[in-house]
Amino acid sequence: MTRTDDDKRRAAEAAVVEIQDGMIVGLGTGSTATHAVAAIGARVRAGLRIDAVATSDATATLAVAHGITVRDFADIARLDLAIDGVDEIDDRFFAIKGAGGAMLREKLVAVAADRMIAIADGSKRVARIGAAPVPVEILPFARASILAALGRLGRVTVRQGDAGPYRTDQGNLVVDGHFAGIADPGALAATLDAIPGVLGHGLFLREINAAYIGSDGVVTRLERSPDCD
Ligand code: A5P
Repeated sequence: MTRTDDDKRRAAEAAVVEIQDGMIVGLGTGSTATHAVAAIGARVRAGLRIDAVATSDATATLAVAHGITVRDFADIARLDLAIDGVDEIDDRFFAIKGAGGAMLREKLVAVAADRMIAIADGSKRVARIGAAPVPVEILPFARASILAALGRLGRVTVRQGDAGPYRTDQGNLVVDGHFAGIADPGALAATLDAIPGVLGHGLFLREINAAYIGSDGVVTRLERSPDCD
């Protein structure tokens, strides 16, 4: 295991300690969330009783393999806790997510959760988000018109998979954007939200309540202050 992966694991394992009996827990997607699923699985095998919802098909499969009960999010109005990775997070608790393409489900689960915890290695903690591309999930039916609208905001590329354009678990396309407006993430998010056919994006500006960051073997917990709102 690399040092970075070890830091991801440590952050995940520290966050999972917050889970209590009877909770409904949102499971994130990606390499850091995978460590969280494994740690939750270990706790479940030790007697923890929880239900979970998964933010991707891959995470659902992994969770079931670890013995975690996964429920259909379509039946769940609110969760106690969501735990998920990030691509970047800054001191305002602004984050970019979606390198793994699951940001739409991740956002829905995060919004439904009473508390969302970001877990990450130290490389994800930045002074200001914006170096990472912002993933945007779009409806394939309107690909050209949405691309034209997004292209007016910055440099955009349609994400590619192994055999053609990448498709999300919902069958949609992902556009990765380096947007000129990232200096004002709230305004950029509002602009993206207003484009018909944009189904979701990876700007998480209000959802994250706490972050566990692993760096050089040490995990730091950061709590969002009311000043961030
Ligand atoms: C999945 O779509 C993403 O939002 C991930 O949560 C994010 O990219 C972090 O992934 P890693 O934990 O693999 O870095």
